[in-house]
Parts: sequence; structure tokens; C-alpha cells
Amino acid sequence: MDTEAQVARHYTHGALERSILDALARAGKDPDRLTAADLAGVDEFHLGWRPSTIALSQDLRLAPGQRVLDVGSGIGGPARYMAEAHGCQVTGIDLTEEFVAVATALTRRCGLADRVTFRQGSGLALPFPDGNFDAATLIHVGMNIERKDLLFREVRRVLRPGGRFGIYDVMCTDETPLPYPMPWAADAVTSFVEPPVTYRTLLGQAGFEVEQEVNRRDFVLARWQEMRAEAAARGQPPLSLRNLVGPAFEERFANVLRTLQAGSIAPIQMIARAI
Ligand SMILES: C[S@@+](CC[C@H](N)C(=O)[O-])C[C@H]1O[C@@H](n2cnc3c(N)ncnc32)[C@H](O)[C@@H]1O
Repeated sequence: MDTEAQVARHYTHGALERSILDALARAGKDPDRLTAADLAGVDEFHLGWRPSTIALSQDLRLAPGQRVLDVGSGIGGPARYMAEAHGCQVTGIDLTEEFVAVATALTRRCGLADRVTFRQGSGLALPFPDGNFDAATLIHVGMNIERKDLLFREVRRVLRPGGRFGIYDVMCTDETPLPYPMPWAADAVTSFVEPPVTYRTLLGQAGFEVEQEVNRRDFVLARWQEMRAEAAARGQPPLSLRNLVGPAFEERFANVLRTLQAGSIAPIQMIARAI
């Protein structure tokens, strides 16, 4: 099985839409009239959750009517947020068939289907014409992609000159080997965590100028503590990444937290401008 097939298999749940709809029903929500906020616990599969998407969107200076490509869009939380909060027209592309189907179904239930669409595919072979987008995002996806040189060249190709590319990935900040499983990979075979300097170099070679680099480690650790305190006071929320990841959640997230606390990895945001 090639790397992309292994990655898609890693993320495939099998009954994800049912799990989310059942949890929403238990929380007393009407599944046919959802808001983006109803889904916020489950549809942001990255460290720092919705607040990280808000920060990235602000730093990208998204504007109404802009065409945005979200590479590795998961079940669509960031894409829906960018459409709803910033008035963008968002296209998501993702390797994992089930995520694309769930993203599409949830977007329809949120009444955003006219502004947000998803399709299955790889960031390494984007099915879009040159210069098609005003902005692009890559949120916790690069850890699964070995050929970041090809990925960045593809994103540069589909962006118009001056368009911005917002990356928010887990990067390594020392040389300690990572523990597995991690949320993005069960073992090292499909894990390609790189230091910020690699991103900067490859972005430059692909025709980008890096305008900003922000380490969100402290922000993420503080948010994690707040969520633990909320869960201790009120119990686990009805909908969370536990629904998306399944029984492996505890071990994968314990590993990522431990490595983050030790300072071997960090969630890093970069904004690069297509030149
Ligand atoms: C950790 S999830 C993040 C999902 C989403 N960006 C979010 O923040 O909620 C990683 C996603 O990247 C997708 N992915 C991994 N490699 C990819 C590739 N080469 N092309 C497109 N999607 C990819 C996976 O299928 C998965 O949905």
C-alpha cells in the first residue's frame, strides 16, 4: 500500500457521520439545523482547535469573496469557519474519502453548501487550474507529506501572484525521536515531521516569501489546561475529537502532549506570500 493509501486508512473511522449525529442528538441539537459552533469540538483536528483557525484566518487577512483552498480539509471545520466568519468561497481537498463525505454532509446541514465544497484528492496533484485561488491553507497536514517540495509547488501554482498561503503544522524543534502513535500517524512510516527551517527553505524554492512565523506552543498548552479544567468541572463535552479518533484517542493525544511539553515539537504557523 502506498503512503497516501496508508494515510487515508489511518484517518478512516468507518461510521463517523453516525457517531457525530448521535452525539449531537444526545446534546439536544437539531441535526438539520446545525451551526458551525455546534460542531466546534469535533471538526477542528489540530492543536489549539477553533482558536488556532481564528488566528490563522486573521493573519491571512481573509476578505469577503476571496477564493480559498484548504488542503487536507478533514471534516471541514476550518473551511466552514473561513466561509462563515470571513465570507470566503472555500474549496477543501482531502485524501480521506470518509472525511470528504462527512465534510460535505455537515456543511449542508449547516446551510453553507453554496459557499463551501469538498473533493477527494491529493495536495500533491491539485485538480485546479493555475492562479485559481486568492489564498490557501494547510492545517496539520504536512506531517503526513514527505514531498513538501512538490506540495508547495502545487499550492504556488494554483495561487494567484500575491496570494497568501497559511500553514499551521506540527514541526520538530529538536532531534529527539518521536513516540508513536501520534494523532497523525500510527508509526514513523507515514510521519514526516520537519523543522521550520525545512519549511522556509522549500517555500522559498517554490516561489513564496515567508512573511510570518509564530510558535503557538504556549497558546496550545494553555488552551489544553483550560479544556481539562472545563472537563473536570462539567464532564467531557458531548462532541470532541474522541468521536473522530475513536478508542485510540487517549494514547495518541497523551503522546503529542508529552512531546509538546518536552519541547521536541511545536505547532507553528507560517504565512507565505506567492511572488
Ligand atoms: C490532522 S487532519 C487535519 C484536518 C483539518 N485540516 C483540520 O485541521 O481539521 C490531517 C488531514 O490531512 C489529510 N491529508 C494527509 N495527507 C494529505 C495529502 N497528501 N493530500 C490531501 N490531504 C491529505 C488527511 O486525510 C486528514 O484529513
